Amino acid sequence: MDSWNAIFGEKGKVFTKPHRDMEDIVNLLKERNAKRILDLGCGTGRHLIYFANQGFEVYGLDAAINAIEIARKWVAENNLNCNLMIHRMEEKFPYEDSFFDAVISIQVIHHNKIKEIKFTIREIKRVLKPNGLIFITVPISKLSSKNNHPNFEKIEKGTYLPLSGPEKGLLHHFFTEREIYKFFKGFDIKKIYLDRTKHRAILGFKK
Ligand SMILES: C[S@@+](CC[C@H](N)C(=O)[O-])C[C@H]1O[C@@H](n2cnc3c(N)ncnc32)[C@H](O)[C@@H]1O
Repeated sequence: MDSWNAIFGEKGKVFTKPHRDMEDIVNLLKERNAKRILDLGCGTGRHLIYFANQGFEVYGLDAAINAIEIARKWVAENNLNCNLMIHRMEEKFPYEDSFFDAVISIQVIHHNKIKEIKFTIREIKRVLKPNGLIFITVPISKLSSKNNHPNFEKIEKGTYLPLSGPEKGLLHHFFTEREIYKFFKGFDIKKIYLDRTKHRAILGFKK
């Protein structure tokens, strides 16, 4: 986690434009009359700004202090209002049950081991209203299971620790599509597809 904090401390806003499919998600949310949204692992806030500008009540949490500080500034500069918190996703979320109409999480939940990821998914479900929407993206693995990868330490099945590079020391779990259906069994998964950044995007609704 320190590495993301360090990345934001050094580079500031790493991502500035919203995910390319977010416009479709906003349209879907408006059709459903959704009001309150959680951006889980909001980073420096590109989606906080995007959703707040569309009139949604927006909440964000992230473990990186630098990210939340930058996001707070960015939100204020735009005369917007968001509820932001420094919090780790493997700890109970600081919200009541059935609080949100939607939870979005872009390139975040894979930064843990399987046990913690399952906990995070249970928390996403808990804080969502019945039939609430999820839009979540995770990376696909570039590693083949047959070879040894000198730059990655294998921690458990599908979970690796990069030993060099900007994400050194930051856990990565690479989901298989089957695993996604299994881990998200409490959700009605509408589609899983490769987005334009070659991440797996998951769209679903709480059962
Ligand atoms: C690739 S960045 C994506 C940021 C943001 N979702 C976006 O799309 O701009 C990953 C984010 O996950 C956050 N993160 C990583 N591990 C976390 C954890 N255990 N709890 C909460 N946030 C975490 C990082 O601080 C970072 O902001």
